Amino acid sequence: MPKRQFDRSAMDVGNIIALEHVNVTVPDQALATFFYVNVLGFTRDPYIDWGPYNVWVNAGRQQFHLPTAKPQVLRGLIGIMVPDLEALNQRLTHMRKRLDGTDFEFEVKKKFTDITCPWGNHLRAHGPGGFGEMQLGLPYVEFHVPQGTANGIGKFYRKVMGCEVKLNKMKNVCEVSVGLEQILRFKEIRRPKPTYDGHHIAIYVSNFSGPHKYLKEHGLITEESDENQYRFQTIVNPASGKPLFEIEHEVRSLHHPMYQRALVNRNSAQTFFNYQRGRDAYMPADIESAG
Ligand SMILES: [Fe+2]
Repeated sequence: MPKRQFDRSAMDVGNIIALEHVNVTVPDQALATFFYVNVLGFTRDPYIDWGPYNVWVNAGRQQFHLPTAKPQVLRGLIGIMVPDLEALNQRLTHMRKRLDGTDFEFEVKKKFTDITCPWGNHLRAHGPGGFGEMQLGLPYVEFHVPQGTANGIGKFYRKVMGCEVKLNKMKNVCEVSVGLEQILRFKEIRRPKPTYDGHHIAIYVSNFSGPHKYLKEHGLITEESDENQYRFQTIVNPASGKPLFEIEHEVRSLHHPMYQRALVNRNSAQTFFNYQRGRDAYMPADIESAG
């Protein structure tokens, strides 16, 4: 009997275990909550930062952090996954009037829905599939970077951060694999926004000290937050040291007390009119029968 051959590297997991939150400031908590909770169908964190200075919004195992300040806009787009894309499209249609006068807009495409938040952040909503077992959450963030930088950014995540990185054939998009079901994507575009306004992402890494050593030696650490967290902002080409892109990373160790924190998620299919007893919580295995 011939021996079966396996590509063992196909099951490797890189050093970034999770992309946990995207932080963008918003000027109006009521409007932000309406958009992220009522319209998108996510859940306000009931325990920490529920407002009015900040609001944390749970999306599966990930979160949006929305502190109150003038709006920040991520330079790219944020992938969101919802259990029922059609239901989201209906909410977008029914609730659009309440968002008149803001930057809000949406367009239903064949496989996803493009949404602009009231302050200009671009979200791309998908139904389940393509990102492991995820049905609700943030499967990826795509950053739009200057031309000629994707290759160097890929090298940074491979060599400094210890990640699995795929560079496409044209070398103008690199994808950094995160845990089992998430991606950080860096896509070159012709005219990326030049100014960076300070929004950030939070990641958990298993090798916490390795990236820190490189970043410290190269003067790239921007904050030594505590024993379980540091921050950096500039992605450099490790071959030349040349800065390539700015995005603050909140880097956390797996010992951080919030690692794999249990997040409350509601079943957004529940309403006053179709209420089903015992179906208030989001349960991935049940969502189709509950919807
Ligand atoms: Fe954060």
